[in-house]
Amino acid sequence: MRASTAAAGDRETLEARDVLVLGVETSCDETAAAVVASGRRLLSSVVASQIETHRVYGGVVPEIASRKHVEAVIPVVDKALAEAGVSLADIDAVAVTYGPGLVGALLVGLSAAKGLAYACGVPMVCVNHVEGHIYANFLAHPHLEPPLICLTVSGGHTDLVVVEGHGRYRILGRTRDDAAGEAFDKVARTMGLPYPGGPALERLAIQGDANAIRFTRSRVEENPFDFSFSGLKTAVINYLRRAEQRGEEVNLPDLAASFQRAVVDELADRVALALRQFKPDTVALSGGVASNRAVRDGLSAVAEAHGATLVFPPPSLCTDNAAMIASAGYYRLMRSGACELSANAMPGADLADVAEPSGVGGEKPWRGED
Ligand code: KG4
Ligand code: ZN
Repeated sequence: MRASTAAAGDRETLEARDVLVLGVETSCDETAAAVVASGRRLLSSVVASQIETHRVYGGVVPEIASRKHVEAVIPVVDKALAEAGVSLADIDAVAVTYGPGLVGALLVGLSAAKGLAYACGVPMVCVNHVEGHIYANFLAHPHLEPPLICLTVSGGHTDLVVVEGHGRYRILGRTRDDAAGEAFDKVARTMGLPYPGGPALERLAIQGDANAIRFTRSRVEENPFDFSFSGLKTAVINYLRRAEQRGEEVNLPDLAASFQRAVVDELADRVALALRQFKPDTVALSGGVASNRAVRDGLSAVAEAHGATLVFPPPSLCTDNAAMIASAGYYRLMRSGACELSANAMPGADLADVAEPSGVGGEKPWRGED
């Protein structure tokens, strides 16, 4: 544990001790707080999910999400501190998601983080949500180090990235339309499955035959690393409608398994391309869809075939959480320092905005050391 009696500015003690970062995440429908030591050791992670509230609407209602975050954010922070066995006075920095996400939801976390950082006299660091997902892997695997390839597959993103170093990203490909998780959710909804659709569709697919229906795999001409899932989504919806018009019964487990196989094939195809080009030792998987067993198995096989290892976080760190934000925040703080307390939420924030080019931003000393 950190020495909480150490005087700030005491160079030796600061270098030797752990830096405790309180993470706050409210970008969508989970209110989350966590305490992480020196970017790598998880002391607590608390997630208050709003899934039950939004389920009746079949998706996230932004206004309701914001109000729920307001109610939950301080109790969730208190719980994260209590579970970590620390108090606010022990916290060295507050890391918070500034985007991408729902603007009203982001503003709640950002406002709470500003208040906490100001009151405690500690730096606040703003974290890109997608960078947070990448860092779930550094948290889950304490000895993992760049360079590596990371595929983030969530409800809002499908990004294939070379992680050249901490904070240094080269974006190879992304989705041109729907994110992988979005495709899971939309297809699941059309099949009458409950929100959120991804886990429900996976459960149904387990009983189905993935070879029952052959859906066409997409290919994006301009950039072979890019993804596209809207054609597949439409094909599944059309399949269901046609069967309905003809009065035919659809084998839903087969349909779910065949759709899931098509998604896995597309992800695996792009990862294989990256493996051939960059020959990394490690491929990391992150985001909510990374908790899908078929996705993990499919990508593991591809990585292995190219002499690499696939790593992924446990399911609790795949879906939205604040531990990944605290971990990414620690590294960002070490490299670039704190954010201004006037920082604003950026609902359309892009990972490319924080991807430092190679060779820029060495390990900066913290707290004004020379
Ligand atoms: O990372 P996340 O919690 O939030 C975003 O940043 O979007 O990801 C949520 C997404 C949803 O689309 C959800 O359906 C999907 O991840 N998901 C899954 C599974 N668990 C969550 N998709 C497929 N299989 C799963 N087991
Ligand atoms: Zn997310």
